[in-house]
Amino acid sequence: MRRLALGAAVSLMAGAALALADGYVWPLPAWMPPPPVPADNPMSAAKVELGRHLFYDARLSADGTVACASCHDQARAFTDGRITAIGIHGTQGAKNAPSLANAGYFPVLTWANPHMNSLEFQALVPIFGEAPEEMGAAGREAEIFARLAADPVYQAGFAAAFPDQPAPDLFTITRALGAFQRSLVSVNSPYDRFKYWGEPNALSDAAKRGEALFFDHRFECYHCHSGIHFTNTLQTARMAEGEVGFHNTGLYQDYPEAVPGLIEITGRASDAGRFRTPSLRNVAVTAPYMHDGSIPDLRGVIAHYASAGRAPGHPMKDGMIQGFSATDAEVTDLIAFLESLTDEAFLTDPRLADPWPPSHPASADRMMPPPDG
Ligand code: HEC
Ligand code: HEC
Repeated sequence: MRRLALGAAVSLMAGAALALADGYVWPLPAWMPPPPVPADNPMSAAKVELGRHLFYDARLSADGTVACASCHDQARAFTDGRITAIGIHGTQGAKNAPSLANAGYFPVLTWANPHMNSLEFQALVPIFGEAPEEMGAAGREAEIFARLAADPVYQAGFAAAFPDQPAPDLFTITRALGAFQRSLVSVNSPYDRFKYWGEPNALSDAAKRGEALFFDHRFECYHCHSGIHFTNTLQTARMAEGEVGFHNTGLYQDYPEAVPGLIEITGRASDAGRFRTPSLRNVAVTAPYMHDGSIPDLRGVIAHYASAGRAPGHPMKDGMIQGFSATDAEVTDLIAFLESLTDEAFLTDPRLADPWPPSHPASADRMMPPPDG
């Protein structure tokens, strides 16, 4: 996260970093439609840049130790390498932190909440949520807004992004965070270059064989991990309505009470153990896997599907998860395909990196214990 500190420090000193109030240009090729943008939060370069500063700012947490980036690290496609997330005061959560790559394209956010339908709304959960406590700011809104308002970087940044209402408050903070997260588009993997840019050599032969397996009826992966982001949960600016896929993959016979799946919200028995299909873009860098981080590596995930789930007898298990036999060589090829979905440019894009200089009070990364592995 520290990579760009010097450049950021220099531009902050020049007062230029947040002053660019021009329009925003999606860094997307012609074949990829942009994500939908809510009418009350149009994209602008200034807002995205303000949102980036907020995303990396630990002063949004009660005691200044946890930023969004503490659990959503760019080098890991905005995941944290932990089995389940750890919040303020070391509070252990029950769920694995999902990647934020292409988060703007998901009409429903988080693992199993069908009502969580916007990035603006979602941002309130980590900042103010109490179960689990992630940033612990509930009841301390005024103090946190005042903290931000006192920083000259934000005085310029909020004025540029929200000229009509330049104060840090719930409306402006969640909108800036939403705009920054919509800018987290990842469409530049070797597989994209192979498939959409017509570069036959962008993929290894192993990855090409793995692609065929991924789209084969024996493995059935593509039924749920379908479309441009390898998930049946999708909405683009060109789609009137989003699609959402929740499935039970047979992970448990009895899903733990703390994380029972979609049933927690809907109360419907048929929703037991159903979780939203995650995108597989950058999946090689987002271990450990599944909603509870219970599978450590991709080989383990494939073994899970090959055996028709770890708990093959769950009555709500999706019919597509029937199990299959695969040779070691085939598993290796399928992993090579999944690895070809890693977008190195996204993981290192300076526009998405920590803008704060190292010793700044906004910095969070020195505070968190290192991830499990
Ligand atoms: C303590 C770790 C932690 C912190 C801090 C944190 N998150 Fe998360 N984030 C998570 C976990 C865990 C989930 C999954 C929650 C669930 O499914 O219920 C998540 C889910 C999300 C999602 C949904 C992504 C998707 O594809 O469904 C978004 C968006 C998000 N976080 C943004 C943020 C923002 C913005 C901040 C800062 C304001 C933030 N997070 C702070 C751990 C964290
Ligand atoms: C019936 C729909 C369905 C099918 C078929 C399916 N998946 Fe999944 N996949 C899901 C869901 C839902 C999850 C999340 C499950 C959970 O967390 O409990 C998931 C999780 C994953 C993950 C973990 C991603 C992460 O970020 O944690 C990987 C990797 C994966 N699937 C790969 C595959 C592969 C490879 C195949 C084919 C062998 C496949 N899936 C077949 C629905 C499906």
